[in-house]
Amino acid sequence: MSDADEMRSLILACDTSTDMLACALAWWPAHGVSPAAAAGVEVLARADHLCRRHANVELVDTVAAVLEKAGKTMDDVDAVLVGRGPGSFTGVRIGISAAKGLARGANVDLFGVSTLDATAWTAWRAGVRGLVGVAADAMRGEVYPALYRLDERGAVRLYERDRVVKASVAIEEWSSRPDAHEIQLTGDGLVRYGNRFEEAGLMARVLSRDLWWPTGEGLLLAARALIDEAGGSEAALGSGDPALVLPIYTRLSDAEENERRRLGLAESAHMDTTGVADELAGRHLQLRPMGAADAEAASELEAACFEGAGHAPWTPTMFLDELGDGVAAPRSWWVAHDDGKLIGIAGGMVVDKDVQVLDVAVDAGYRRQGIARKLLAHVSYDAQMLGCESASLEVEADNAAAVALYEELGFSRVGIRRGYYGPGIDACVMSASLPLVLPVDAASPEPTSAVHRAWPLSEPRRTDAELAELDRRKPVLAIESSCDETAVAIIDADGTLLANQVSTQIDFHARFGGVVPEIASRKHVEVIVGVVDAALEEAAEALGFKGGALSPKELAAVGVTQGPGLVGALVVGVAFAKGFAYAAGKPLICVNHLEGHLYANLLTTPDLKPPFIFTLVSGGHTMLVHVRAWGDYEVLGETLDDAVGEAFDKVAKALGLGYPGGPIISRLAEDGNPKAIDFPRALNRKGDYRFSLSGLKTAVMLYIEQENKAGRPIHLPDLAASFEAAVFDVQYKKARNALRETGAKEYCIGGGVAANPHLRDMMVRKLSRQGIRVTVPPQNACTDNAAMIAVVAREKFLKGEFSDFSIDADPNMTL
Ligand code: KG4
Ligand code: ZN
Repeated sequence: MSDADEMRSLILACDTSTDMLACALAWWPAHGVSPAAAAGVEVLARADHLCRRHANVELVDTVAAVLEKAGKTMDDVDAVLVGRGPGSFTGVRIGISAAKGLARGANVDLFGVSTLDATAWTAWRAGVRGLVGVAADAMRGEVYPALYRLDERGAVRLYERDRVVKASVAIEEWSSRPDAHEIQLTGDGLVRYGNRFEEAGLMARVLSRDLWWPTGEGLLLAARALIDEAGGSEAALGSGDPALVLPIYTRLSDAEENERRRLGLAESAHMDTTGVADELAGRHLQLRPMGAADAEAASELEAACFEGAGHAPWTPTMFLDELGDGVAAPRSWWVAHDDGKLIGIAGGMVVDKDVQVLDVAVDAGYRRQGIARKLLAHVSYDAQMLGCESASLEVEADNAAAVALYEELGFSRVGIRRGYYGPGIDACVMSASLPLVLPVDAASPEPTSAVHRAWPLSEPRRTDAELAELDRRKPVLAIESSCDETAVAIIDADGTLLANQVSTQIDFHARFGGVVPEIASRKHVEVIVGVVDAALEEAAEALGFKGGALSPKELAAVGVTQGPGLVGALVVGVAFAKGFAYAAGKPLICVNHLEGHLYANLLTTPDLKPPFIFTLVSGGHTMLVHVRAWGDYEVLGETLDDAVGEAFDKVAKALGLGYPGGPIISRLAEDGNPKAIDFPRALNRKGDYRFSLSGLKTAVMLYIEQENKAGRPIHLPDLAASFEAAVFDVQYKKARNALRETGAKEYCIGGGVAANPHLRDMMVRKLSRQGIRVTVPPQNACTDNAAMIAVVAREKFLKGEFSDFSIDADPNMTL
């Protein structure tokens, strides 16, 4: 590195929040140097181009092209800069996920910057001065409105907080300004709503169309401006840890919006979603937003928790006021309940990008289970969605346990309020930046963000023997993000699992009775770096290495689930994996999720050999497959309607038993009589390998309705056992027939429902008797996991079956 190079950093900037794939490589001044923003940025190469819905295909190749144009490689890059939106949800997530992968793979800083700022700076660079209005497209008739003043020094924001509004609201606001005639419009929202701005007379001074999108240089200038404002400190852009860079949020998902609307009603949220009361709903600890019906219990819990403490407990009326429409600042209140009993509450109020935690209380009998932490996670999470960047709270200064809990979550003490809780009782004021620190651990199997840590990480220290070991083991890392689990596993060339991490989002979906795709995608973005890091650490431990977690460069390849699954969820894993593999200089391997469920059987029976019959029963699929050879699949039959797991989930939902239904029903079924109710078995003719579950589901619903009408209590265990029997009978008979017809001597099974002990036992028992060797995967490798993806990735690695960086997620992939 020359002296001149030490004075500056090489920054790779990209943004896919809009139809523009913005990308540029530039020098900027090293830390602590602060010339005027524009003077400091020297673009070496750029590749900004419109690419509608193709960002995931083109991003990494575009990055490669930009680096090549400048004669650089990823190893020369000092930091990655990414546009955080607001913009198209999927677009923002693709850009951020890929950028996280690039930065984590190269172990360099990742910084985020507003895409709207970048658009304003793009205009500035083109010489525009004066008042500029960016109307960015938010889809569905909405825009992100952002007003700037551009002068010689740069672009200055004239608005407080990012928000999303109907295009008509933005038009109304802007045209009623006294300086309306000065506004120079830009932004990709004009593509769709330009004529409406025109009608309002706002298009008179519109900027030229090629400026309506952000550019790579715009991102760089916007970021420099923040640094300069802070006197040259890059800390103005955050810590650089890729785990902590998140999209700019402006609204909740539709599901959450609806829920909040519903909560305005004086009825329990749970009554609304399931039609049954909480006594049935809470088999186990669940979290949900507080509803008006919780006010009494919340007040009692509060009083019990704070008995003898300085502060006066909240009355039911106070809680009702909090939940009503009348509150000035947005609120988020959550409750935890167990078997219908309220056991914890937490609430916060949004003020100026800060969520002020108003209350946290957990029943004395349920302490030390991480419930307060989970509740706070949800409150702070909502707050983040509402634009907050930090959280603050007061706690009694001598309540050491509470102070310690908050410190663990990333809060630090920022002050003391003398006598706040009464004479002699001081309050300790604490604050934390969002997201809160929530380490992955067994006690809190929750979606997590990374621990705040020193970044970049120090390079691992290895002995020669360890390096030789790595060379022999060839660890392959695999990522799974097709549905509601973010999972990462690492496997070696011999097929030994070195790491197997899963971060489940179930808590975030359970209250909606199923997976909300929008939330799933968002959560993957938030936790993916944390889960990858946990796997890299676990693998180093498994190898007995003392010199730190595996580094991306110590891996042999990177695998990822390409499909099938939820598209918004898949793209996160795929974009991350591509950036990660590219930056670390490793080959990329694409894995079919369904093949993953099949290959999970190799974890139990490494010598499993085709031909054999395979039953796939998951939340999205039900198929009977004749595996003639590895990779040569004859699908004998599939479901015509619902998947088996889906049927479990729907029946559980109808009974108000919570989500996911499979594990709950199977636990209930243990004490039930499978012959109690005679449910129908569909398509039960020999030679017919198709499945149909919707008739059975309807029969169960009718049964519930009929019993309810007759005023007879439903015997849940009998219902569950009879339902299972109807499903599994059909599975068994069709598998047996297929085995007979094909003459195969081996059978195996996979998918979430294969975790069901009754199905596993039945298949093993009945088929073994007929001379068939039966394999079932380890129970934790049945529901979605990355170990199974790693098994496939390893096979492909050994065969050299690599993918190029232009692959995209494929939500409709089949076997
Ligand atoms: O394979 P998976 O984790 O996700 C998909 O790829 O779909 O399968 C999830 C499904 C859910 O519908 C869940 O209810 C079901 O597997 N499941 C079970 C059990 N555990 C999970 N179904 C029956 N019995 C179980 N013990
Ligand atoms: Zn699955």
